[in-house]
Amino acid sequence: METVSISNRDITTGQQKHEIEMPRFGLGVYLMGEPGECRDAVRHALDKGYRLIDTAMAYGNEDEVGEAIRDSGIPRDEIFVVTKLRQPHANSHEETLERCQQSLENLGLDYMDLYLVHAPPKDQEARGPVWKGMEECLSNGWTRSIGVSNYGAHHLDAMLSYAEFLPSVNQIEISPWLQRPALRAAIREVGAVPMAYSPLARGHKVDDPSLAALAESLGCTPAQAAIKWCIDSGAITIPKSSNPSRIEENIGSLSVDLSGTESAFADLEESYVSGWDPTSEP
Ligand SMILES: NC(=O)c1ccc[n+]([C@@H]2O[C@H](COP(=O)([O-])OP(=O)(O)OC[C@H]3O[C@@H](n4cnc5c(N)ncnc54)[C@H](OP(=O)(O)O)[C@@H]3O)[C@@H](O)[C@H]2O)c1
Repeated sequence: METVSISNRDITTGQQKHEIEMPRFGLGVYLMGEPGECRDAVRHALDKGYRLIDTAMAYGNEDEVGEAIRDSGIPRDEIFVVTKLRQPHANSHEETLERCQQSLENLGLDYMDLYLVHAPPKDQEARGPVWKGMEECLSNGWTRSIGVSNYGAHHLDAMLSYAEFLPSVNQIEISPWLQRPALRAAIREVGAVPMAYSPLARGHKVDDPSLAALAESLGCTPAQAAIKWCIDSGAITIPKSSNPSRIEENIGSLSVDLSGTESAFADLEESYVSGWDPTSEP
């Protein structure tokens, strides 16, 4: 699996700190609510070569992610686990530490690879203390890297006033229908890498006729074309599927060659948000 280097840049020295390798592609496990659904999907994905799993305390399935990892027999250090601090739990330094420990207990793991603030804390005064808590999770070795999710350019900019280490990743909605060049530039500015959630716009756009025509010309499926566009645009990409054949189809996107389709993909942009968008919160 191809990887990208991510790091938490030290704000005083400007040095890349805690640099680690992260797979560019993985499985998202949001909305896997049936008992066993998440465990079976993660297990199938790992068997088929996935090495990055994106969960969150909010998804209620960290325990099944951990179970599937242990059942797989794959060494822990070959799998990259991402989880997130819920927005309603992002209130203080102390609570951040407690919730990180709870996530590790749920996962049944000694450490996670990347811990994200799920969305900007509602209380603006809490943003600094919560990030200090994230930095402490990093220095305690509970996570190998720390990042954010759903942070807009103004949220990232504000971090310069309170962070010691800048985020390694900002996970935001990105798809061919929501390409976000300005926010990606702001993410690069702080030394982070964009991570694309909802790359299929939650399935809303898989039947888009323009995408179907593009996919036909490429000899791949529409979902594969959309996923590969996200990866080639520089975003770590985590489509969700609970369906074994779609889990296989989605990893098949890695071998798709999009050469010559740049302008056709550019034409798909329509600022389409499929879920929530806290990047525009104050
Ligand atoms: N940080 C955040 O705020 C945030 C927000 C949303 C999502 N996420 C993360 O990003 C992951 C992915 O985003 P998402 O779950 O919102 O949406 P998504 O990956 O864009 O789309 C998932 C939907 O597409 C369907 N699908 C998957 N593969 C398909 C294929 N090959 N052909 C046709 N349909 C297909 C799935 O159904 P089946 O399962 O039936 O295949 C599901 O209904 C989440 O699981 C989560 O880990 C993070």
